[in-house]
Amino acid sequence: KRLILVGPPGSGKGTQSPIIKDEFCLCHLATGDMLRAAVAAKTPLGVKAKEAMEKGQLVSDDLVVGIINEALEKPSCQKGFILDGFPRTVVQAEKLDEMLERRGVKVDKVLNFAIDDAILEERITGRWIHPASGRSYHTKFAPPKVPGIDDVTGQPLVQRKDDTAAVLKSRLEAFHKQTKPVIDYYGKKRIVANLHAEKPPPEVTAEVKKVLS
Ligand code: AP5
Ligand code: ZN
Repeated sequence: KRLILVGPPGSGKGTQSPIIKDEFCLCHLATGDMLRAAVAAKTPLGVKAKEAMEKGQLVSDDLVVGIINEALEKPSCQKGFILDGFPRTVVQAEKLDEMLERRGVKVDKVLNFAIDDAILEERITGRWIHPASGRSYHTKFAPPKVPGIDDVTGQPLVQRKDDTAAVLKSRLEAFHKQTKPVIDYYGKKRIVANLHAEKPPPEVTAEVKKVLS
């Protein structure tokens, strides 16, 4: 399947992705994860993206369109993919349509992680991630077996630099101004499925499976 996950910061896109990936596609492309890896490796892309990310603003359309266009060539992404955090502007959505048209494919479903803003601060400030795999935990809602340690690799967990209450405000503003119109864009194509993203993770997973089966 070819899927897009859209929703505000902390709505659960990254949490549901590995489960969807295992069951419905082989390919998970998260622009946020790719950009964070580029920032950590200080690549030219990372250097360009760093400042906007730390302020909670979107990086330029050209940068993210370029990384997605390249990633879609991966052999593992030929039969299906999950786009997590992309497209986030209407321009990105239009560019994606062009990229897919060139490849003769189209998006099957857009999963909209609908949730009230008020819930998100607690989710964001309690999140700990394993940078190498993208796995995320939560001190209260999804604690690791050993605090501060990844269950699978035993490596240390870290907090994202943009996971503060102050930066969350900018990220939410960007979501409402720039990304909400993307949901309308796909709504007109009648491929949006609305999820109750405020529910516990297993219930959200069940909704996703119902939509996709
Ligand atoms: P990105 O990494 O995409 O961040 P985001 O959209 O803000 O989303 P998050 O990763 O914060 O949330 P999530 O929905 O994945 O939540 P998670 O499942 O981890 O982007 C970061 C930055 O990169 C952007 O600000 C921008 O600068 C740049 N960028 C990226 N893509 C771009 C693009 N296309 N264009 C331009 N710029 C771009 O869950 C959060 C926490 O809650 C976790 O701790 C988790 O354990 C917990 N949790 C999850 N689900 C539940 C649940 N159901 N109940 C209770 N707790 C839960
Ligand atoms: Zn994420």
